[in-house]
Amino acid sequence: THTPVTVTVTGAGGQIGYALLFRIASGAMFGQEVPVRLRLLEIPAGLKSAEGTALELQDCAFTTLDSVEVTDNAARAFAGTNVGLLVGARPRGPGMERGDLLSANGAIFGPQGAAINTGAADDVKVLVVGNPANTNALIAAAHAPDVPAERFTAMTRLDHNRALAQLAGTLEVGVGSIRNVVIWGNHSASQVPDVSHGVLVGEDGTQRPLPDALAEALGGAGKVAPWLDETFIPRVAKRGAEIIDVRGSSSAASAAAAAIDHVRDWVQGTAGSWTSAAIRSDGSYGVPKGLVSSFPVHARDGAWEIQQGLSMAADVRARIDRSVKELEEERDMVRSLGLV
Ligand code: NAI
Repeated sequence: THTPVTVTVTGAGGQIGYALLFRIASGAMFGQEVPVRLRLLEIPAGLKSAEGTALELQDCAFTTLDSVEVTDNAARAFAGTNVGLLVGARPRGPGMERGDLLSANGAIFGPQGAAINTGAADDVKVLVVGNPANTNALIAAAHAPDVPAERFTAMTRLDHNRALAQLAGTLEVGVGSIRNVVIWGNHSASQVPDVSHGVLVGEDGTQRPLPDALAEALGGAGKVAPWLDETFIPRVAKRGAEIIDVRGSSSAASAAAAAIDHVRDWVQGTAGSWTSAAIRSDGSYGVPKGLVSSFPVHARDGAWEIQQGLSMAADVRARIDRSVKELEEERDMVRSLGLV
């Protein structure tokens, strides 16, 4: 018998919460052998919705679900938690400047970081989903001095998965045959989807560079760069807006699926190919140490490792520099607001 894992989900009464909790409870994150104790954190206005979700979780009769607790008290929600999924955030309102947005989120992620510092389990792992995710992770980490800063991560896995889906569609292959695509930088419009190290694995196991496969699919090597610049990168970076346009509300199930992927890989490890996650920079690839930025990553023994040694074309480098500059500006702003 396995010891139960305690998972805290903030914003549990929201859309992503509704798509996420049932999958965690059914074993998608930790496997069929590990019982899950769920803690649902909401603000008072969201409690009813979270309580309704808790009733439905009971009714699923998942054998992997040990218990569900709903609360609006952060200390209670994070006591003994092993995995914190910080989904609830303050969205940008009309006329709200970036500084206002960052301070409103500082008021959420600062106290949650502090509650994690005080009460969470020693092995706590945190994924920030709520936007601006990278900087919210920085704020939470700054309020948790006793938790190693690298345990605070932010989600770019949805962008990564969106990139895989676009490539698979264009190449008319299954997503599983595409490896080593990466999202660099901030989870924002400045993010850098990069296929230059990508590999297409054939049915017989042979590997082809993704740029070569794209040249063939698009009808010539000269067509790849314009397709990347004008179609692929904007499509991935603006997919959230496209979903809102078509669906009438923002992406929730795909965001939840990406959160599952991120934590599952972090806990269970990755094999072979890398994935993308926003993690604390150790200075790799010229990203200033301490920023939470997306990198190509592997997970081993419950820790992320940055894939080293990748070459970078000048245009990719320039895009990464722009995205990292945006992260530095956000960091400087939260510093000047006294939030980190
Ligand atoms: P939603 O508005 O449906 O739900 C958010 C919930 O958070 C609400 O129920 C609200 O009451 C709750 N909440 C607000 N402040 C809270 C606090 N201090 N403590 C606990 N709960 C709190 O929003 P949705 O669609 O679930 O999205 C949540 C966040 O995820 C948004 O910030 C969104 O921008 C972000 N997001 C991030 C993605 C990524 O790739 N990183 C992808 C998609 C969404």
